Amino acid sequence: MGFPLSSEKKTGARASPLSSADPGMWRKRRIEDLVERVNNHPHQLRRSLSGWDLTLLGIGAIVGAGIFVITGIAAATKAGPALSVSFVVSGLACLFTALVYAEFASSVPVSGSAYTYAYVSLGEFAAWTIGWNLILEYAVSAGAVAIGWSGYFQRVFQDFGLVFPPQWTRAPMEGGWINLPAAGIILAISLVLAAGVRESARFNNLVVALKLAVILLFLFVGLRHVNPAHWHPFMPYGWSGVMGGAALIFFAYIGFDAVSTAAEEAKNPQRDLPIGILGSLGICTLLYILVVLVLTGMVPYGSLNVSDPVAFALSRVGEGLIAGWVSAGAIAGLTSVLLVMMYGQSRIFFAMARDGLLPPVFCRVHEKFGTPVWVILVTGIVVALIAGLMPIQEVAELTNIGTLAAFILVSIGVLVVRHTHPDLPRPFRAPGMPWTSLLAAGSCLYLVGHLAPMTLWRFVIWSILGFILYFGYARKRSHIAQENSSHVVG
Ligand code: ALA
Repeated sequence: MGFPLSSEKKTGARASPLSSADPGMWRKRRIEDLVERVNNHPHQLRRSLSGWDLTLLGIGAIVGAGIFVITGIAAATKAGPALSVSFVVSGLACLFTALVYAEFASSVPVSGSAYTYAYVSLGEFAAWTIGWNLILEYAVSAGAVAIGWSGYFQRVFQDFGLVFPPQWTRAPMEGGWINLPAAGIILAISLVLAAGVRESARFNNLVVALKLAVILLFLFVGLRHVNPAHWHPFMPYGWSGVMGGAALIFFAYIGFDAVSTAAEEAKNPQRDLPIGILGSLGICTLLYILVVLVLTGMVPYGSLNVSDPVAFALSRVGEGLIAGWVSAGAIAGLTSVLLVMMYGQSRIFFAMARDGLLPPVFCRVHEKFGTPVWVILVTGIVVALIAGLMPIQEVAELTNIGTLAAFILVSIGVLVVRHTHPDLPRPFRAPGMPWTSLLAAGSCLYLVGHLAPMTLWRFVIWSILGFILYFGYARKRSHIAQENSSHVVG
């Protein structure tokens, strides 16, 4: 596949790929070229998603293992009932980030999320770095969610007396061979996505409605069993516990930015993307705070360190039947998270391959299905291996740090674009700039500071690996670099 980057010649910035006149790793894409290229590209993705579809896409990504699985661990071991405050702190960091994301997504409405935004604002190396971190956010988080899905899946079967052999439901580090249900659900989701976005979005909408209904059911039933005595002591682990909790449950918010990866498939990206991003984040924040208050009001916070805290609390107060319904809804909820995360990852790979930073097979769109089938299947196989072979906590922590790093770079990027492209049409303008950007970057950095040191080290190793791949492969094959010598790519 190929496309001429004719308008880039007008910039006149480069003579040869890596000559002294070439900005090298700092080279940027022009926003105007990106929009034009999307409109003229022979491999168009189908524009079929409305603002409402995108809001549901966001909720589908956001509400998942964070609220259904990790909340209990965080309440019991980090923050106690004050986990509700942790959700406010983390939610604020996401709100600032969502505002800058919405501005970028509405003015640069092309596939690729933060990766694309960095390419036009901070340059190719920053774009690569973000793309590399987004693999942690999307693919690796899908692995964590699949492991959580596997736990609920096994629980439902246990209720019917069917117990799976442990060697087929645990990762090697946990004494098993492979977590087969976790790997299997990832492969199934990949096939659904490969079949086409319209079908996937419809399926997603249905599952999201079910998930929301189950959460409302929990709130309605749980509220009647709240004993305010359980909220004392409110902050048993102090402020540092609240912040540790915020850094951990940040996982629960991940996903609102997935909406922006669907820019090329939105009917009216300028209007629909901000609706999707801000709408989904606002609804989820409200639900989370309510769920945590009810949950920690129903049972002592110390008892919530279990794999299914929401269903567990319902059972403890004698609502076993409702607990069963909630478990079924959790499975549906986790499934929709998987859909959006896998969808987002394939579109990020798609965008990176289209820029030449990854092999061209990653941006080949299937003629019949209209989706990048090959990249979806490759992603599916790799994520299935992660889900099958790694423990959930290791995977979730890595997800958080990669996402926070990407958010920090995006927040800086939106400031840069305001400076470099003051006249760019911005159908959505983030309010309170530059403070919103600075608050977004600062609060994300603050959360990074409260992650475990081991997570930071793993992140350093992951980053070094990314740098090696960039300088060893992507830098030379970048289409901008190629265009400098041949003028035509592909
Ligand atoms: N926010 C998503 C979840 O909680 C990743 O599962």
